[in-house]
Amino acid sequence: MGLRISLFSCFLLIVLLHSARSDDTSSQLLKGINDYRVSLNLSQLTANQNADCLAEQLASAYKGQDCTNTTGSDTVPGTEQQFSNFPDFLSNCHLNATVIRDGSIMPACVPGLDPQLVLANFTESQYNQNLNDSSYVGIGLADEGNWVVAVLTTNTPAGNYGPATDTGAGSVVSIADHRCVMLSLLGFFMVLIS
Ligand SMILES: *[C@@H]1O[C@H](CO)[C@@H](O)[C@H](O)[C@H]1NC(C)=O
Ligand SMILES: *[C@@H]1O[C@H](CO)[C@@H](O)[C@H](O)[C@H]1NC(C)=O
Ligand SMILES: *[C@@H]1O[C@H](CO)[C@@H](O)[C@H](O)[C@H]1NC(C)=O
Ligand SMILES: *[C@@H]1O[C@H](CO)[C@@H](O)[C@H](O)[C@H]1NC(C)=O
Ligand SMILES: *[C@@H]1O[C@H](CO)[C@@H](O)[C@H](O)[C@H]1NC(C)=O
Repeated sequence: MGLRISLFSCFLLIVLLHSARSDDTSSQLLKGINDYRVSLNLSQLTANQNADCLAEQLASAYKGQDCTNTTGSDTVPGTEQQFSNFPDFLSNCHLNATVIRDGSIMPACVPGLDPQLVLANFTESQYNQNLNDSSYVGIGLADEGNWVVAVLTTNTPAGNYGPATDTGAGSVVSIADHRCVMLSLLGFFMVLIS
């Protein structure tokens, strides 16, 4: 019983720490970007759930890759990394190619996710021209490892990241699944080492 309770608290702690840490980077970045938008007299970006979902899928795909001078915000336009399973990312997030066309996907790689460098990677890089663009109204953010992905959305049908018809799993479901798998793995690992 005691062991169960401590395992459970340990669980909770890890889950809390995990979400606190990732929420931290994303919410600080959102605040930084919106302060920047305000300083340019532009509307603040509002959170878009489907864009959040796609950002999460991409951040997971980038995770583990090293930062170089040709990745993240230093990527030479036209040489962006393509993921063969991108169509799966879209359908996992209730999206299709039509509704993301005018959006913008911006990955950045910053060792240790230093908050100031993360923000600068968006406001002081080639991404600045997107942040300084009134046609974007929404944003999705996710971070994994040294990677942060921001996804900007418009308020038009070609970029609003509206839920696509005819797709399978919903974003809520896949996030829930993701959390469950993670929890089970954590639990399994902790049972192994206890
Ligand atoms: C923002 O708007 C204010 C008042 O409308 C103006 O004084 C200021 O110069 C504007 N700033 C920019 C960056 O356009
Ligand atoms: C990137 O780094 C490589 C070696 O580390 C260097 O040769 C190259 O000039 C750098 N490119 C840019 C654009 O800084
Ligand atoms: C982006 O982050 C990297 C660290 O990976 C840093 O070296 C670089 O200066 C940052 N870029 C900008 C424009 O701040
Ligand atoms: C933002 O865009 C406006 C209009 O395109 C331009 O005048 C301004 O210099 C830009 N500001 C920055 C910080 O890039
Ligand atoms: C994508 O989804 C939108 C919104 O449901 C729909 O209007 C559009 O026809 C879909 N496009 C494709 C190519 O499936």
